[in-house]
Amino acid sequence: MSAVNGVPQDEKRPTLSRREFTSGMASSVLVYGLLEMLWSRGLFADAVKPIVNQWFHELYTTGQDLYGQKLKDTEFQAKLEELLRRADLQELVKFVDLDKIASTAKLPQTGALSTSFDLAQVEGLPAELNFGRQIFCMGKSRAVVPHGHENMVTGFIVLKGSFHGRHYDRLESHADHYIIRPTIDDTFGAGGVSTISDHKDNVHWFQCDSETGFIFNAHFMDYDPTISEPSGRLYLDPDGEKLAGGLIKAPKMDWDSSHAKYG
Ligand SMILES: [Fe+2]
Repeated sequence: MSAVNGVPQDEKRPTLSRREFTSGMASSVLVYGLLEMLWSRGLFADAVKPIVNQWFHELYTTGQDLYGQKLKDTEFQAKLEELLRRADLQELVKFVDLDKIASTAKLPQTGALSTSFDLAQVEGLPAELNFGRQIFCMGKSRAVVPHGHENMVTGFIVLKGSFHGRHYDRLESHADHYIIRPTIDDTFGAGGVSTISDHKDNVHWFQCDSETGFIFNAHFMDYDPTISEPSGRLYLDPDGEKLAGGLIKAPKMDWDSSHAKYG
């Protein structure tokens, strides 16, 4: 499991308050319990279909080109998006039994539950993978709240449910705000794909429109040695002052304020 104190890598934050740490511990127990339950009940597929096996291999080898500086982040982002669009959704969904998760996991009152999953059954993948992965699970009107990242390329594919998804380019960073520009505002049903990088569609925000919703996420972090900023979430409020040219002055937020308004 790639979660640390219950905080998945894509949700990694630079600092944790005591309350956040405590809730993180609780979340960790929940996630561990969920994984243990899945294993003990044999809910993971006995054998991974070759097509899914091959897909995870491509995810890994394409990522190696990013880390090997053979691809710029936006070039890799395009390849990641293409790879996600080629995913065999049915097989990916079967890889972990989403219906079982929906019926047994207690979804949070705010925000999204995030769980990782084991890829040990994918033959030939190295033990040390170059990507983090997780599944976001949430109830109606709950959200992966608006945030950006530094030094990360990450991709979403909706496994089940319907989402209102929005992206923004993050153009400028200031002490207490960012300047952002809306780029994507759409409905994402099963199979819907979106990606972010440092230079394109860097901010994402997904609100669940259906009773439950599931998103698969793969993320590649710390690929650019010249970027020293941590790759944790940068919370911000897209509901900020409207500027000329369609730009928005988006105040910085923290986990609490963001989830209070958008979770
Ligand atoms: Fe993210």
